[in-house]
Amino acid sequence: MNKNFYMIEKEPYYLNTKNEVSMFKAAYAGRLPVMLKGPTGCGKTRFVEYMAHSLNCPLITIACHEDLFASDLIGRFLLKNDETVWCDGPLTKAVRMGAICYLDEVVEARKDTTVVIHPLTDNRRILHVDKNGETLNAHKNFLVVISYNPGYQSVIKDLKQSTRQRFIAINFNYPPFSKEVEIVAKKGRLRLK
Ligand SMILES: Nc1ncnc2c1ncn2[C@@H]1O[C@H](COP(=O)(O)OP(=O)(O)OP(=O)(O)O)[C@@H](O)[C@H]1O
Ligand SMILES: [Mg+2]
Repeated sequence: MNKNFYMIEKEPYYLNTKNEVSMFKAAYAGRLPVMLKGPTGCGKTRFVEYMAHSLNCPLITIACHEDLFASDLIGRFLLKNDETVWCDGPLTKAVRMGAICYLDEVVEARKDTTVVIHPLTDNRRILHVDKNGETLNAHKNFLVVISYNPGYQSVIKDLKQSTRQRFIAINFNYPPFSKEVEIVAKKGRLRLK
């Protein structure tokens, strides 16, 4: 398992717009799962990369979609030469190595998939790997972070209440005009370098 591969080496540029950085740090200190709520393009992905870098924690991102099965997160047996070998999925890797596991657009995932994260997001902090009979205790640095855009998806695709109530919500919105100017100017300068 190559932890370095998941480290964010260079500090991503992120401008704190309210109190999101201190909220995330407090949640991480208590290993409380975090939900980033807000419209597209408001900086959720950039923020989680910035936080992973500043906490010196590996980051594993999973882009959720409607064909995402629990086995895509947990892992599966694969044929290698004439052997069957177990291959950890991204969630299992994060649980073992102590990464921040970022489930982007979590409502897009199938309902059975989101239930997989339930025992990881309460006081149990365990993952059942039913296919190989393992139950893993999450590494002490492991944390689940999800992104959620409430107005964007249809009602049918809303998050289950039992999933939602497990997370500390951090609300995002587009930055105020003056901060947006600062971000655009800074990004322009970074591009010129
Ligand atoms: N506070 C901020 N500081 C620095 N850059 C920002 C900030 N907010 C937004 N951006 C910039 O806006 C762009 C879009 O941000 P990002 O991709 O993180 O949005 P998102 O909320 O993840 O969107 P989506 O829901 O579509 O995935 C990025 O290129 C990022 O640089
Ligand atoms: Mg994003």
